[in-house]
Amino acid sequence: MTAKVIDGKAIAASIRERLAADVVAFRNVANRSPKLAAILVGDNPASHVYVRNKEQACSKVGIASDVHRLPDSTTQQELLELIARLNADETVSGILVQLPLPKAIDETTVLDAVSPIKDVDCFHPENVGRMAQGRPRFLPCTPRAVQVLLRESNVTVDGAHVVVLGRSEIVGKPVSLMLVQKGETANATVTICHSRTKNLAEITRTADILIAAIGQPRFVTAEMVRPGAVVIDVGINRVGDRLVGDVDWEPVSAIASAITPVPGGVGPMTIAMLLENTLTAAKLQSDA
Ligand SMILES: NC(=O)c1ccc[n+]([C@@H]2O[C@H](COP(=O)([O-])OP(=O)(O)OC[C@H]3O[C@@H](n4cnc5c(N)ncnc54)[C@H](OP(=O)(O)O)[C@@H]3O)[C@@H](O)[C@H]2O)c1
Repeated sequence: MTAKVIDGKAIAASIRERLAADVVAFRNVANRSPKLAAILVGDNPASHVYVRNKEQACSKVGIASDVHRLPDSTTQQELLELIARLNADETVSGILVQLPLPKAIDETTVLDAVSPIKDVDCFHPENVGRMAQGRPRFLPCTPRAVQVLLRESNVTVDGAHVVVLGRSEIVGKPVSLMLVQKGETANATVTICHSRTKNLAEITRTADILIAAIGQPRFVTAEMVRPGAVVIDVGINRVGDRLVGDVDWEPVSAIASAITPVPGGVGPMTIAMLLENTLTAAKLQSDA
């Protein structure tokens, strides 16, 4: 079997096309554009690339964006003051704090300071709680990207055994919570694995859908995958001058039924979901 390649780039492009029309419709009613304010602290090269990609994606669908580039020496207090100003700024629909932050700044304190109605990354505890209870305001971007990729590829999630590798707050935990909900592209039986899991390969081999989000290059080998399984590779790892996923792509794609590539799988979809959340935030605030 050779796996069908789930083309995240193409799916993201069609979502952006629909979003561009939705943004025009919003602007006609609300008389303003949705706007994303991104905050970038320090000079992490990967973060600069991510923020530039998000800026470009916003402009493609008609969402305005401002990037606040702050030096590494920025204090937590200065950052909190900027977030307070953006929370109060009625022209700003969504606020994104690019991670990681410099070590001297407490990430949780900063993320908790973002207004829950502008929290387009869905990191605020109020939004995480709502999502966990199945009544989301926003859905976190990468987990939602995984769910939409499954939906758009006609993968049956209802009743499937999904094994998630990784339990981070950004990917593993929320994607598990979303796929176990009652609802569309959900109703799965979910097993979450992490670095303390015993007999990992035995568990991953029972997955109908395997989601890898551990940040270990090519960790998931063909021996860990049941022939015919669907494999979603969230990992982005730099190896030399190449980006590779958490899945050993070639041997695994020889036995899986469908698989996402890296790059070109979950990554572009994550950005599309950020745009969708920014429009959702703008709508929420215009109703308020
Ligand atoms: N495509 C995208 O848009 C996107 C977005 C976000 C992240 N990512 C990528 O996704 C990957 C994961 O990101 P993250 O933020 O979730 O990472 P993270 O916060 O470092 O979490 C990694 C998780 O994997 C688990 N883990 C690590 N090594 C393991 C092993 N050998 N066996 C089993 N579990 C293991 C860890 O277990 P413990 O909890 O026990 O430590 C942890 O729960 C990274 O490559 C990141 O770059 C991609």
